[in-house]
Amino acid sequence: MNATNCIEVIEGDITRLEVDAIVNAANESLLGGGGVDGAIHRAAGPRLLEECRRLGGCPTGEARITGAYDLPARHVVHTVGPVWRGGGHGEEALLESCYRESLRLASAHGVETIAFPAISTGAYGFPAPRAAEIAVRTVAAEAAEHPSLRRIVLCCFGRESRQAHERALENAAAPPL
Ligand code: APR
Repeated sequence: MNATNCIEVIEGDITRLEVDAIVNAANESLLGGGGVDGAIHRAAGPRLLEECRRLGGCPTGEARITGAYDLPARHVVHTVGPVWRGGGHGEEALLESCYRESLRLASAHGVETIAFPAISTGAYGFPAPRAAEIAVRTVAAEAAEHPSLRRIVLCCFGRESRQAHERALENAAAPPL
């Protein structure tokens, strides 16, 4: 299976998606925040924070999995993206690790459908076009390793983010010249 076949780009609110797992763009404390982190905690309810408190945080580039409580999803995969500091501090490798580790962890928990926000492209300032290329490339590579991951949604919040991901997906799906 061409790994990009299982990837779809949509524009919407990730907290509403009926998938096995949604991915949260968290911070290392895992104790909530603004942006998509805030939206997920608001929609999941206070039991999500109670579970997160017991995890003791998560280093940048790694992922942790919890229940989803009042969300339509079954799991939340929390990952911590890099703060963009100009590109010379390993940010690209850390962002790639977020997507890879989230998929590996989800796959190990029997997840077949999963949705990602555009990790690090909000408060953490990662340039959206480059982040979208890293997201699509990493998700396609990992999907080829885990055929049980049959639907991977890149859930964009706004037109610019959606267009960046659609371009990245078109480029990745295009046959080699
Ligand atoms: N659904 C989908 N995507 C969303 C939603 C939502 N409901 N809300 C925001 N987004 C998008 C943003 O528009 C952005 O494209 O998620 C992407 C990631 O932005 P942030 O949420 O700001 O996350 P990030 O840039 O990774 O910064 C993480 O912000 O909220 C805090 O606790 C979080 O400290 C951490 C930091």
